[in-house]
Amino acid sequence: MKHERRIFIKNTLLLTGGLFLQNDTFSKTMIRKNAASRIRKEINTLSATDPDLLAYKKAVSVMKQRPASDPTSWSFQAKIHQNFCPHRNWFFLPWHRAYLKQFEEICRAASGQPDFNLPYWNWTKNRSVPATFWGANNVLMDSSRRINAQSKALEEMVGTINIEKILNKQSFEDFGSYAATSQRPTDGSGASGSLEGSPHNHIHNFIGGNMGSFISPTDPIFWLHHANIDRLWATWNDRGHANPTKTTYTNYIFKKNFNNASGQAVDIKTGDMSDQNALGYLYDTQLSGLRLGPVNSSSFAFISSTKLVNSNQFSLSEKHPTSINLTGFKKLYQSAFPQVTSSLPTKSREVKAIISDINPLKEEDYFVRVFIDYPNLNKDTPISDKHYVGSFAFFASEHGDHPAAVGGDMKAMHTPKLTYVFDITNNLKQLFLGNSENLKDDIKIQLLAIPYRANGKAALIAGKVEIVIAQKEV
Ligand code: C2O
Repeated sequence: MKHERRIFIKNTLLLTGGLFLQNDTFSKTMIRKNAASRIRKEINTLSATDPDLLAYKKAVSVMKQRPASDPTSWSFQAKIHQNFCPHRNWFFLPWHRAYLKQFEEICRAASGQPDFNLPYWNWTKNRSVPATFWGANNVLMDSSRRINAQSKALEEMVGTINIEKILNKQSFEDFGSYAATSQRPTDGSGASGSLEGSPHNHIHNFIGGNMGSFISPTDPIFWLHHANIDRLWATWNDRGHANPTKTTYTNYIFKKNFNNASGQAVDIKTGDMSDQNALGYLYDTQLSGLRLGPVNSSSFAFISSTKLVNSNQFSLSEKHPTSINLTGFKKLYQSAFPQVTSSLPTKSREVKAIISDINPLKEEDYFVRVFIDYPNLNKDTPISDKHYVGSFAFFASEHGDHPAAVGGDMKAMHTPKLTYVFDITNNLKQLFLGNSENLKDDIKIQLLAIPYRANGKAALIAGKVEIVIAQKEV
């Protein structure tokens, strides 16, 4: 417990926290206690002889020497991802947290370093793959990467502005992807939220090679990338946002997806992954500053009676933007923000744009920017503009060019029907609040494909665009 008590804590408050949760004022002052003693650190702050770095190298090389049939081998661990990982739904965060936790235990045993904690790679601060992951005969190198040591991930995806936007999302689903009936649903449930759809997918795609596929854990950087995703989830919680409390989430069990350090399969329950503090670890960035308890419900439900829909199929190329027109906007806006003329809209309603049935082709070659109603939109339109909604990238969704599945439902993972959801509440407030004379009955959602390289190509077909009001559930 050596790292305990960095923050002054009202212990009695914590002990009785459950009792007082009903009391709003009281719960708003609740501060989390640092109970964990294991600290995951940023890779770029570690010296070449840091014990965590040395242990990681040792573990990777020991695991790589084990036969593929050994559940604690490097290739078996990567296959777990291919067989079971949930993407584009709300099991994305808890599944990867469990995966990292089991992997870390396997690394401790393999390296003989029981104190090992998995480092993370903060790509917001250091946009290049860390230097220790490069070089011939380096066990941390993966020669299938399509970048070099100097290449930098896109600021638009991983930079502070986007990350801050993501960390301020109110709804869990907006933040960490949408509700689904199972980890690889075949009923069309689930959609990508902003953490998964932009920085997460982008880092996979940016590095490419193994990292661009479902055997991405073959590249040793994978685990540090996901530790950073996990850290951002913890940071979002520290800002007072609650994880889902619905039993369809908390009671969901990842059945024998993972192994322990002796190679035995284990079941892990989603709800048990909600608090990393309780799991015994913290990130170095959590050691200072306030860590709030769950202050607010983070659950929103779509009000489908008021939604706007355009279900004409459309396509997108690198040549020019595509605009999708939706009618009935004035009424939707007024019911989303009923008190628009008198005061600021409350935080209990949000407006989302849902782009669905997306089939990306050549998905490693481009990403997509989303705007609302921008006249003369083009690739030079600044993303600081108030009409800019956000961007999305792809990860291993395209048909055909991925290794065959060993098990699990790979068909569901390579569905060409992707869905991305964007929160457009702030855009609408900036565009129309106090300017309601500008409200028109038609509004345009615009998509702009941006190739990663000069002369790059983009191709995408999509089936539907919707604008929906979401209401906070109490
Ligand atoms: Cu399941 Cu970032 O991969």
